[in-house]
Amino acid sequence: MPITAITGSASGIGAAVSAAMRAAGHQVIGIDRSNADVIADLSTSQGRDAAIAQVLEQSGGVLDGLICCAGVGVTAPNCGIILAVNYFGVSQLLNGLQGALAKGENPAALVIGSLAATHTGPDSQPMIEMMLAGDEVKALEFANNLGEPHFAYSASKYAISHHARNLAVSWGKQGMRLNVVAPGAVATPLHQASLEDARFGQATRDFVAPMGRSAHPDEIANVVAYLQSPQASFVHGTVVFVDGGMDAMVRPSRF
Ligand code: NAI
Repeated sequence: MPITAITGSASGIGAAVSAAMRAAGHQVIGIDRSNADVIADLSTSQGRDAAIAQVLEQSGGVLDGLICCAGVGVTAPNCGIILAVNYFGVSQLLNGLQGALAKGENPAALVIGSLAATHTGPDSQPMIEMMLAGDEVKALEFANNLGEPHFAYSASKYAISHHARNLAVSWGKQGMRLNVVAPGAVATPLHQASLEDARFGQATRDFVAPMGRSAHPDEIANVVAYLQSPQASFVHGTVVFVDGGMDAMVRPSRF
């Protein structure tokens, strides 16, 4: 039975992805702060190392899939945590588990990015370069000093999508696929918290997809399960928007 490790498995998109991968016949090793096979805090380097060690132990050192869903939104306690979980909580796991993936069968990894990644550019957000350089202390300090959660969120999602695409050449040569799924608005506790937030609630409510609604988490999980399957055997290094048409609405000339 193929084995897939999934972060953020206890809630929202990660829970839906876990169910979809189980339905596809995978053994799932769920990683989260609670209600998971591996309990770990991905906001710290030590927590990520502990997660990697436990996944390697539970998988016997061989993984067929890795799906990074864990993330925090604009209502996180501070801006540094947004970068710590959304960027470093993913990049450190990709790095720490790539050896196990290389031993897997048709191995594939996937990162949940965000449509929000398109709301920024590397020139306008110096913290993106800090993340890509792996300088966690500097990046978190910059984000906390700036104190703009929506910039921290979009920068973290831009940086992790860029990082995943940077890895695509070396991973592809080793026979490992790596893709990004960029959701728009998805009905999860994270999205609900944004809707209810005094600072971001109105903007979140106003940004409606052409489809006229938010996604159900299963609608993201279905695409993730496809990308992780042998049916997607030549899909590699790409960013797939699953956003009800939001990206086409905002920037139709960019693709
Ligand atoms: P959620 O809040 O329902 O689930 C996130 C999960 O990540 C939770 O189970 C949480 O415990 C876990 N997590 C958070 N911080 C953690 C930490 N320090 N250590 C370990 N686990 C941690 O949120 P949702 O919406 O399912 O989010 C999943 C991913 O989808 C996130 O990366 C988010 O940025 C992304 N996303 C969500 C969108 C939405 O509208 N809901 C839109 C675009 C992207």
